Amino acid sequence: TVYPNQQIASVQVAKRIADLIKARQTSGGKAVLGLATGVTPIKVYQELVRLHKEEGLSFKNVITFNLDEYYPMQPTAAQSYVTFMNENLFDHIDIEKSNIHIPDGTLSPDAVAAFCLNYEKQIEELGGLDMQILGIGRTGHIGFNEPGSAPNSGTRLVTLDDLTRSDAARDFGGKQNVPTKAITMGVGTIFKAREIVLMAWSQKKAPIIKKAVEGEISGDVPATYLQLSQHVEFVLDEGAASEL
Ligand code: GLP
Repeated sequence: TVYPNQQIASVQVAKRIADLIKARQTSGGKAVLGLATGVTPIKVYQELVRLHKEEGLSFKNVITFNLDEYYPMQPTAAQSYVTFMNENLFDHIDIEKSNIHIPDGTLSPDAVAAFCLNYEKQIEELGGLDMQILGIGRTGHIGFNEPGSAPNSGTRLVTLDDLTRSDAARDFGGKQNVPTKAITMGVGTIFKAREIVLMAWSQKKAPIIKKAVEGEISGDVPATYLQLSQHVEFVLDEGAASEL
């Protein structure tokens, strides 16, 4: 779906999330959301905060799982995805802290594998993700599933692509400070979500969106795997859609 601009598109995505939360409230159930970081979803989070503050949307029945976190990473660091989520969403809504899940960047190396398996298990025990929202990196990564990721991959420790580290350099005051690894949900984890919404804004994302939507399905561009899903929507502004 192509919207005239990012603001209008983000309000629509936020509305979809709010409708899901409200539908679950009505039936007495929980909404299980897969969340993303990066600049792409920021306006969606702003709109969710507005719906909470101005229209009384409650997040008491919401359980969240974030896609990824740098490794190693202290949660209190300015660049951590914990800090990002707190500042952009969690600090401003009434979600229960115990319902928030973000991969743990402080684990010792020998504890990572068990943590990842448990992350998958927690999602499964809740009946799976109702909705996963995604951005896209210029390498075609979703979460931190870089080129070479398998379609059935699960949550795991990965090595970041050079281009991804260059793109993150500004946040870290130089590429040399960007961690070389991350913990990410897998392509397979993302695929199990009942709905997947990938957002991209601006002409900067147009070449990778063209590859993701129209290119050959290949591990070289992990987002192309989404072509195989029946439950995915690409939500774009005119810039990001300009090469389609
Ligand atoms: C980061 C995140 C991804 C995100 C991507 C795009 O590396 N791990 O989940 O989709 O980069 O970032 P942005 O939205 O800032 O363009």
